[in-house]
Amino acid sequence: MDPTSEPIIRRIVSGIQPSGRLHLGNYMGAVRNWITLQEEHECFFFIADWHALSTNYENTAMLRGYAKEMLLDWLSLGLDPKKCTLFQQSHVVEHAELYLLLGMMTPVAWLLRNPSYKDQMVQIEHRDLAMYGFLGYPVLQTADIVLYRPSHVPVGQDQVPHLELAREIVRRFNSLYGEVFPEPLPLLTETPKLAGLDGRKMSKSYDNCIFVSDPPDAVWEKLRTMKTDERRKRRNDPGNPEDCPVFSLHEVFTALPVRQQIDRDCRTASIGCIDCKKILLEGVEALLSPAREKRKELESKPGILREIIGKGCVKAAAEADKTMELVREAMKIS
Ligand code: TRP
Ligand code: SF4
Repeated sequence: MDPTSEPIIRRIVSGIQPSGRLHLGNYMGAVRNWITLQEEHECFFFIADWHALSTNYENTAMLRGYAKEMLLDWLSLGLDPKKCTLFQQSHVVEHAELYLLLGMMTPVAWLLRNPSYKDQMVQIEHRDLAMYGFLGYPVLQTADIVLYRPSHVPVGQDQVPHLELAREIVRRFNSLYGEVFPEPLPLLTETPKLAGLDGRKMSKSYDNCIFVSDPPDAVWEKLRTMKTDERRKRRNDPGNPEDCPVFSLHEVFTALPVRQQIDRDCRTASIGCIDCKKILLEGVEALLSPAREKRKELESKPGILREIIGKGCVKAAAEADKTMELVREAMKIS
């Protein structure tokens, strides 16, 4: 293949687990890319609420609220139900049917050697994850994807092993029962690792996030107290932007010429950290302020979320239904 030619993208599927409010890291890692993709391609984006149960099966009460928040976050940032199909996994029960069927032919050894399974088993200590559903997570994810027979799946680097597994399951299915599924290709999203308030990676589990739905004063309070280069103890101490988590946010939110100026001024102590953070605030607010307006507009229309997700689920289910016909036919169980 000509290495310069763009892959032909036909249909896109991706989802996110609803595990709380969306933060800037989630936005940069996935949603920003989805908003671009919806302009050019046929896109299915879904709330992966069943997936959230795989690690949170004991706290199911939060799930409904999280799903609603997530939809609000998506819409406020610019995902547009006129341009893409937005739906909720658990409302399209074909996900469960295909998950079950794929589970019949997925070797357990493939699941046991999945790197993110092994990682999470070690990392998440406070919950007992020795569950069938947690092991089977990638099978459900495979069902989520191939149910829509997409050409591509936009994912971050961390999800690549899951997608590779999905491709293996697809190959096995196709060789057992006939060519039903195209092998989905990853559409790698470049995910700048966004620093959180404490300088570690922005993540809910570190409690260091700026959320898309934070009000302006909360955003400023977070930035104001955000960690900077430790060398700048006093105003006159020069710093190094490379060691400053604030600067890593500038790299995403502040235009290049301004950022270059800050870089110089930080190294010569010509700018104070508070002024530097005020410039960052402008960049962050350029994203969040319109999102707040949009959210307010949505919140003033009771029933709108239900309507959007309802319509999306009908569209998704129609596609899922077509695929399941083919699957049952291929497996001779129709
Ligand atoms: N595993 C993904 C995550 O944790 C969520 C997900 C579930 C997903 N099913 C998917 C992503 C299908 C892409 C395609 O973020
Ligand atoms: Fe960081 Fe800006 Fe302070 Fe430099 S001036 S240390 S980049 S906050």
